[in-house]
Amino acid sequence: QKPVTLFELSRMRAAGEKIAMLTCYDASFAAVLGRSSVDVALVGDSLGNVLQGQKSTLPVTLEQMAYHTECVARAESRAFVLTDMPFGSYHESREQAMRNAARLMAAGAQMVKLEGGEFIADTVHFLVERGVPVCAHIGLTPQSVHQLGGYRVQGRSDEGAARLKADALALEQAGAALMVMEMVPAALAAGITASLRTMATIGIGAGPGCDGQVLVLHDMLGIFPGKTARFVRNFMDGAASIEDAVARYVAAVKDGSFPAAEHCY
Ligand code: KIV
Ligand code: NA
Repeated sequence: QKPVTLFELSRMRAAGEKIAMLTCYDASFAAVLGRSSVDVALVGDSLGNVLQGQKSTLPVTLEQMAYHTECVARAESRAFVLTDMPFGSYHESREQAMRNAARLMAAGAQMVKLEGGEFIADTVHFLVERGVPVCAHIGLTPQSVHQLGGYRVQGRSDEGAARLKADALALEQAGAALMVMEMVPAALAAGITASLRTMATIGIGAGPGCDGQVLVLHDMLGIFPGKTARFVRNFMDGAASIEDAVARYVAAVKDGSFPAAEHCY
């Protein structure tokens, strides 16, 4: 299978082909994702929750992200490798962000993800100009959970919606190629997606009107204990194997049957 490139992702967006992304933290799952035609493997800082049992992503370190990126990047997989920059690793200055992005790129990341809106656009531009592809992340940004007052839907007020629209445009202008939108009303996410010219949107709890979808692997496999969010579907239900479950996820994203109305806000 031909490896997915940034060029391919941008072709998919232009052609209206949905981008299927899943989180991935190790080589075994990276190989499964590759065989199941996942387009992007996200080494998410959700590994703090899922692998480490932390209550938030805040304690995750740069070295932990680099380690898991190395594990994923070693696998034989077609998936494009995207790694989260952890809390505190890009907030001080654009120079600090570049230094830490370089560490993750050296570990095998092909793109890095930063949480934040307009305020982070200058940093995004600095990285993109220096050869670091960037994925933005707006809406519910888990690294700001204490600021946001919990894991809740964002952009519900007129003011909040206008903020997210302005954030998206600023991030596109800064050169971000992808942008995750998390827990955003479906109609707002669709409107933002339609307003963009080059940046592909990837939704999680943001409805079917995005250019692609992402879920946490352990959530969609039904492994993560406890109550899951409204936007999660357990793809192990009725699946013959993990590989089959992942393939069903990819198929459902591609044909637009996931997310359904019950997964949206
Ligand atoms: O860390 C993560 O898993 C993420 C996704 C929820 C987008 O950032
Ligand atoms: Na994350």
